Amino acid sequence: MQIKPYVPGESKMDTDKPIRQLAANEAPLGASPKAIEAAQGSVAQLNRYPEGGAVALREKIGERFGFPAEQLICGAGSDEIIALICQAFTSEGSEVLYSQHGFLMYKISALAAGATPVSAPESDLRMDVDSMIDAMTENTRIVFVANPNNPTGSYSTKAELERLHAALPEDALLVIDAAYSEYVDAEAYSDGSDLVAQNKNVVMTRTFSKLFGLAALRIGWAYGSKEVIDILNRVRGPFNVSVPAQAAATAALDDWDWAMDAKHLNNRLLPAVTQRLRGMGLTVYDSVGNFILIDFSDADRATAADAFLRSEGIIGRGVAGYGLPTCLRMTIGTEDDMDVLTQALTRFIESESA
Ligand SMILES: Cc1ncc(COP(=O)(O)O)c(C=O)c1O
Repeated sequence: MQIKPYVPGESKMDTDKPIRQLAANEAPLGASPKAIEAAQGSVAQLNRYPEGGAVALREKIGERFGFPAEQLICGAGSDEIIALICQAFTSEGSEVLYSQHGFLMYKISALAAGATPVSAPESDLRMDVDSMIDAMTENTRIVFVANPNNPTGSYSTKAELERLHAALPEDALLVIDAAYSEYVDAEAYSDGSDLVAQNKNVVMTRTFSKLFGLAALRIGWAYGSKEVIDILNRVRGPFNVSVPAQAAATAALDDWDWAMDAKHLNNRLLPAVTQRLRGMGLTVYDSVGNFILIDFSDADRATAADAFLRSEGIIGRGVAGYGLPTCLRMTIGTEDDMDVLTQALTRFIESESA
């Protein structure tokens, strides 16, 4: 089989040090207490199927973000929606295009659907519109852009997305995966929702796994044209989002202050830790997500740094699978996590010259 398994960020380690889980871009403060309470309160009738269309949740998402509920679909994580899109819009011979260091699930989902994955070179770890356009063929059916991208942390501008969309082959769908969009304040950024509003062939995917801290419940959503959402509704399982997931996500959107506090913590720590690590001589790429990509400029050094951090209880993410063997990706955790990370990397650098 051509599909290599997706290797998730690890969460366990054999050490007596406190574990700092910085491998999966999870929310360090957890979910809103109101979301947890809603999930707990939802389990009294486990014999009942969930509401199949996630109606209340879609209405809440629509209200919060300003999209029509009938143009929304919920899924068991945005991973499921990515897979459904590949299933619904490709067949053998179809090509699924994404950029060189794009999120791994695009390739996996394309292969699982029997389509051909195609990756286009990036420039400076950013999606390159011209290179994406060069890689388009008459067989291109889906173009995925993670905005911001994981694991690079870079983002594409509204103008770049518009130019990419304008060049799409007929019948192709542009999917803007905005899993980390809630963290981004950059003015030139777009989560793609404006393109969705104006075009039938654009979908934006979002998740409750990151800012809202609900990764365990598997809940994501997408905004697209009525036509695209109708097709996705036909291919999804009728009860694809569990009762606790729907309840918690709805409550999480009501606790907006919790989400904004989580965002502000991330957006305060992100530049601070970036500067500290750069000050220690490390290459840290600009990121607008809830993670940073540290380049150790040598694959062996990145592996040694990873092993050193693990011995200190810090679990980061090697990204060789993304074609970045010299790098490690680290989630922005709590303030304490970031202090421990910088101290550990200081000791690692000292150990190199010892
Ligand atoms: C860019 C991107 N898209 C989608 C996902 C999937 O998120 P989930 O399936 O938890 O919604 C992730 C998870 O790390 C991601 O980084």
